[in-house]
Amino acid sequence: MKPAHIAIIMDGNGRWARARGLPRSAGHRAGVEALRRTVRAAGETGIRWLTIYAFSSENWSRPKSEVSDLMGLLRLFIRRDLAELHQNGVRVRIVGSREGLEPDIAALLVEAESLTAGNTNMNLVVAFNYGSRDEILRAARAVAMEAKAGRLDPEKMTMEDFAARLDTVGMPDPDLIIRTSGEQRLSNFLLWQAAYAEFVFLPCHWPEFGPSELAAAIRLFEERDRRFGSIAQEAVS
Ligand code: FPP
Repeated sequence: MKPAHIAIIMDGNGRWARARGLPRSAGHRAGVEALRRTVRAAGETGIRWLTIYAFSSENWSRPKSEVSDLMGLLRLFIRRDLAELHQNGVRVRIVGSREGLEPDIAALLVEAESLTAGNTNMNLVVAFNYGSRDEILRAARAVAMEAKAGRLDPEKMTMEDFAARLDTVGMPDPDLIIRTSGEQRLSNFLLWQAAYAEFVFLPCHWPEFGPSELAAAIRLFEERDRRFGSIAQEAVS
């Protein structure tokens, strides 16, 4: 069965650029092209949820000029692509902390979400200023505050109660997480949500990713035997 929700760690823009003697900014620009191809291909393949790791809460530690390049690319992506996404019935959601973002970026994120709120063909979730530990800590703080105010009984709190305070409330967990560029780690991405995700690590750098790489990752996913902690059906005696 095809994954309902694919999440992607778009890694390797810098290495792709270096291998071609180009500045890192050229790698990120090529990364946006790959992102466009991938969103289209995912839509055509019938993937209902696509989450992309666009900027992590740790990415602020990169040189100022690179952070500013990435912010510029997000602005451009929303300004240029929002109309097409909306036309294609894509609902955009942003996960991550909104604190400390430049006001025009914060406004663009709100605009992207509110314009596309009624769309139902596909969901594009952009993880921006996102870090999973930060998300979990904010959720923990929220439940602690509610318990303190007497609105939530800590003894009776369920996993659903906790998940309802995460940025991803209402979203299905990712079935498949793809990471490009050969690295094999989660890098603070969807730690809670990835509990039963399948991982596919591809050697290509993100700017080289496109419809055939997406199809290959989905094929690998379809070969996996997902048991969610249980045993295979044929082993039940
Ligand atoms: C990883 O490459 C990529 C990122 C840090 C950000 C991903 C960003 C894009 C695909 C373009 C921007 C898109 C939006 C919508 C903001 P890297 O720089 O870590 O590559 P390296 O590990 O080879 O140096």
